[in-house]
Amino acid sequence: MLDSFGRNINKLRVSLGESCNMACTYCVTSIKDHNPDPNALSSSDLLKLVSLLVSYSGITKIRITGGEPLLHRDLLSFIDGVRQLGVESIGLTTNGLNLSKLATSLKEAGLDSVNISLDSLNPENFRKLGRAGRLERVLEGIEKALTARLRVKLNMVVIRGANDHEVVDLLDYAIERRIELRYLELMRMGPLFQTEKFPLFPMHEILELIGRHFTWRKVDAEHDATAQRYWVPGGHFGIIPNESAPFCSTCSRLRLTSSGQLVGCLSNPTPTSIQHLLKQQEVASELNERVAHSIAFKEPVAFTGSNLGMSRIGG
Ligand code: 5AD
Repeated sequence: MLDSFGRNINKLRVSLGESCNMACTYCVTSIKDHNPDPNALSSSDLLKLVSLLVSYSGITKIRITGGEPLLHRDLLSFIDGVRQLGVESIGLTTNGLNLSKLATSLKEAGLDSVNISLDSLNPENFRKLGRAGRLERVLEGIEKALTARLRVKLNMVVIRGANDHEVVDLLDYAIERRIELRYLELMRMGPLFQTEKFPLFPMHEILELIGRHFTWRKVDAEHDATAQRYWVPGGHFGIIPNESAPFCSTCSRLRLTSSGQLVGCLSNPTPTSIQHLLKQQEVASELNERVAHSIAFKEPVAFTGSNLGMSRIGG
């Protein structure tokens, strides 16, 4: 669906639930902040809503998020159901802790790609940033995902004073495995919304660090890509510059929460429920009114911060 700024909203991010087995410091204040959504729909109802958005609202690409989607017991049948809708691509964003045992089945169910969060290659630092989980398990998960021929990208949220010294190590690791690494500038979300000391490590500093070890060159990215893309000898990397070079003007995303609410914008998360459409015969016009309402909240230019945390909406 086109919005009033001419943006074609064709990518849907579906959150399967808010549970997570990590508690990253920039996402939550403690692991107890991950409360399962009491109004979460069954996976078959959620799939039905996805199918309506695909049939009537121009959604062509699906990304499964959470919380941590690999914790959801119906994940494989959900992916299989999405695959049967005939969408262009199905991706999933994960912390990777449970990936090694699931990678092959995910691929068989129809998953095309995984974005794996990896903020550190140092076991102690990994634990400090994530408060739970073992780095080794994530690294095993990455290897298994590559073996299963899933398309793999890595997400590193760069935080001043916490992991900025690992920017080049992560790139070496990714290039060695022919994986594209994306550096995410920190966003003012959840616990960071109104913090006084916001430990942003901006794009130009990331490029400066990389420039000490690699020659880099900017290359074209897809028109609605969130990441700026760079070539280095042996591969590519990306930077998602939420603060330094906001990309809202080309944002093509719509979000669906696990309780059946549409969220058009991370900055203005005014949820619009479509859950009641599950019981209706004629849905097209009302569904599209709700989609239009929810994307009307999309920021035209830049993300301005939100007290909503990523663990509730999945990015
Ligand atoms: N700023 C930037 N990235 C974040 N993520 C979660 N919270 C934030 C934040 N405040 C990342 C996760 C995951 C992706 C979906 O977003 O690490 O990789």
